Amino acid sequence: MKITMIGTGYVGLVTGTCFAEFGHHVTCVDKLSEKIDLLLQGEIPIYEPGLDGLVAKNTQQGRLSFTTDLAEAVASAEAVFIAVGTPTSRRGDGYADLTYIYEASKEIAPFLEGYTVIVDKSTVPVGTARQVARVIKEVNPEANFDVASNPEFLREGAAINDFMRPDRVVIGVESDRAEAILRAIYQPLYLQENPIVKTSIETAELTKYAANAFLATKISFINEMALLCDAIGADVVALAKGIGMDGRIGPKFLHPGPGFGGSCFPKDTMALMRIAQENGESLRIVEAAIEANGAQKAKMVKKIRDMLGGSEAGKTIAVLGLTFKPETDDMRDSPSITIIPALLEKGAVIRAHDPQGMEEARRLLPDTIVYTENSYEACTGADAVVVMTEWNQYRALDLERLGSLMKQKIFIDLRNVYQPDLVREQGFKYAGVGRS
Ligand code: UGA
Repeated sequence: MKITMIGTGYVGLVTGTCFAEFGHHVTCVDKLSEKIDLLLQGEIPIYEPGLDGLVAKNTQQGRLSFTTDLAEAVASAEAVFIAVGTPTSRRGDGYADLTYIYEASKEIAPFLEGYTVIVDKSTVPVGTARQVARVIKEVNPEANFDVASNPEFLREGAAINDFMRPDRVVIGVESDRAEAILRAIYQPLYLQENPIVKTSIETAELTKYAANAFLATKISFINEMALLCDAIGADVVALAKGIGMDGRIGPKFLHPGPGFGGSCFPKDTMALMRIAQENGESLRIVEAAIEANGAQKAKMVKKIRDMLGGSEAGKTIAVLGLTFKPETDDMRDSPSITIIPALLEKGAVIRAHDPQGMEEARRLLPDTIVYTENSYEACTGADAVVVMTEWNQYRALDLERLGSLMKQKIFIDLRNVYQPDLVREQGFKYAGVGRS
């Protein structure tokens, strides 16, 4: 199968590479020639474990190529996937900005040859695929094509595995021909018996938002339970186990933390609310999940302040982890972007470390932050250490060494990766989230 992927961002690059790994011939197109040049030199513009090896292998074996030449790539494809960005609109109203989607649709339209399925891979509001069809028809009334929606459920940091072993693949199609092509593309997954869920185009578009909103709600729920545990002296980790072992609830996404971040949950929950409003409905649960997430970050600032005796002014705080989750260099909507400036504003000195995120952090966070080579250097002379992101290298710190480097032994574990008793045994004052 010949596939063209428009957009070599996170989703486009991972999806294109994994399709090539399935055995298809994939051309990845991007307007940004710097990005394509980088990829042609074998360099990967994002950090995603395992992606570099897979790109190198499939490029060498001739199934994966990169180009800025849209015309050639589109003409020869049986399926064109649109995987361009859909950021939150600059108007700040929570709507998704679809400029790149419609631009891509206009640009591919003149080059379509023979029958082609145009597949929306980007997360887009309900009705977008139909708009894409309209745009293409306007530019090229002769074009022979169908549109389809095939939302992506992969997680940053675990993207290859999520793609190769998905819980399900959702395809929103309305023609047998488009369905047959999409089923053929995902054929390799049949061996693992991964189910394909066929829906209408609108249902597929909405399914993506519903999945992310549900997961975000689950996180906000457990975060609020953690706050309650803190208030009444219960343990949220045991509580999560106690409810998660109920098959109807499930144990995943019940880890409390400093709030959900990233390029998806914050943006998609807001966009879903707007979709509902436009259609005369209100999603009160999603709204509450968003609100609780904002409150969670503020509560984390207060937790740090309380641990420091009521004021962070003049105190040095070591922050370990800046990205919104481990195994990524992505800082978008990371809780650290809210929590660190709030601490700085009240006069704290921040020493920070992150295995992958420091370059981006330098661009996004105030330049008074001192970035360090490793976690121990960050903790040197600090009054408190805060584990903000659960990178593996922060999970087994040498606490004796850490304590000997710090001014005060205060340990704030915003990801609950440590056993409170073990940290306290080392002479630290310890706080997790919901573990009092
Ligand atoms: C999320 C979804 O999990 C993917 O299925 C989806 O494809 C993707 O968005 C997308 O729409 O593209 P991602 O944003 O990469 O994936 O990261 P997650 O692992 O879902 O984590 C999101 C945030 O929730 C992180 O800040 C993480 O720390 C937080 N989280 C997650 C918790 O605080 N607790 C949990 O139990 C799980």
